[in-house]
Amino acid sequence: MPRGAVIGLGMIGRHHARLLQSSPRARFAGAVDPAGDRYEVVRDQTLVFGGLDELLASEPPDFAIVAVPTEEHLPAVRVLAEHGVHVLVEKPLAANAAAAAELIEIVERAGLHAAVGHVERCNPALLELRRRVKAGQLGEVFLIATERVGPFPDRVRDVGVVKDLATHDLDLVQWLGRSPVELLAAQTQHRMGRPHEDLVLMTGRLASGTSFNSVVDWLSPAKVRRTRILGERGMLVADTLTADLTFYANGHVVSEWGASQALRGVSEGDSTRYALSRREPLLVELEAFLDLLGGDPEAGVVSLREGLDALLAAEAALESAASGETVRPMSRQPTAG
Ligand SMILES: NC(=O)c1ccc[n+]([C@@H]2O[C@H](COP(=O)([O-])OP(=O)(O)OC[C@H]3O[C@@H](n4cnc5c(N)ncnc54)[C@H](O)[C@@H]3O)[C@@H](O)[C@H]2O)c1
Repeated sequence: MPRGAVIGLGMIGRHHARLLQSSPRARFAGAVDPAGDRYEVVRDQTLVFGGLDELLASEPPDFAIVAVPTEEHLPAVRVLAEHGVHVLVEKPLAANAAAAAELIEIVERAGLHAAVGHVERCNPALLELRRRVKAGQLGEVFLIATERVGPFPDRVRDVGVVKDLATHDLDLVQWLGRSPVELLAAQTQHRMGRPHEDLVLMTGRLASGTSFNSVVDWLSPAKVRRTRILGERGMLVADTLTADLTFYANGHVVSEWGASQALRGVSEGDSTRYALSRREPLLVELEAFLDLLGGDPEAGVVSLREGLDALLAAEAALESAASGETVRPMSRQPTAG
């Protein structure tokens, strides 16, 4: 059974540690955090280390979940790769695309298994949404719209809302649309007096021709996590906070001009809320990573390349907001630092 460790026992790391300790498919090898186990999640406190060197000193783990602040992802992966440790790296993959490209190079050179933690892909409502869209329930897809707003999580210091939150949406629109972002225009705002942006509006088009738009901020008093996909037969709406999925069918306006113009004028049809089996997304993500370690080529993980694509799109959004221009993320290929 593979031995796994968690690097960074903060807001998300504590959940990784909880799940790893109770996993029947992996053994808990310890956790690293210079601030200790503030959330008291580690059962055996002798397995809490102040630094990576202490964890690696005795018997290095087989894999590690990297949940340190974003700017620390690359340095942590560099050390883990030197010890042959496979890595599941939290999103965003790194602080910028160049660092992400370097991280990928290090992992590939070391021949390690790796994935990035775009955990929204493991949300039951989004998994079912994607399955239904792929099965053609909506017919031709016109638009993917996402909303990810809420209060500011005071602990995020090193990046703005685009890299910290909107990378979720930029990954989701490419995954749900099964096509890369071709065009992107964005606006940002800085309302909290911090160096980084706290609101972004993004509008764009996938290479498939599907339009998308995303509203992401740290300025809203209530948390909203909604993804809506509109097509010729109606729309599917996923609420990832409640893991709910609802289908709103187009009604049919009888056209005086004859049946051939049925699409002319959509009206409200029936709506259906689906009963979903709800499994914790972080657990589904851990199981997919363990499948990867077990050699399953179909393991449902998010690859480091896809993590880089989300970061490239995020940097394109910041460039567009700064220049006022529409940009093409795919033409941006970072060179390792
Ligand atoms: N997938 C998601 O939905 C999701 C949600 C939240 C955060 N994240 C990502 O997870 C990462 C951590 O975010 P967080 O919200 O848990 O932050 P956090 O500040 O709550 O926790 C980070 C922890 O890392 C520790 N740390 C700092 N440097 C370290 C080092 N060199 N070695 C070991 N530990 C170190 C800190 O003491 C802190 O306890 C970020 O990259 C963030 O973007 C992802």
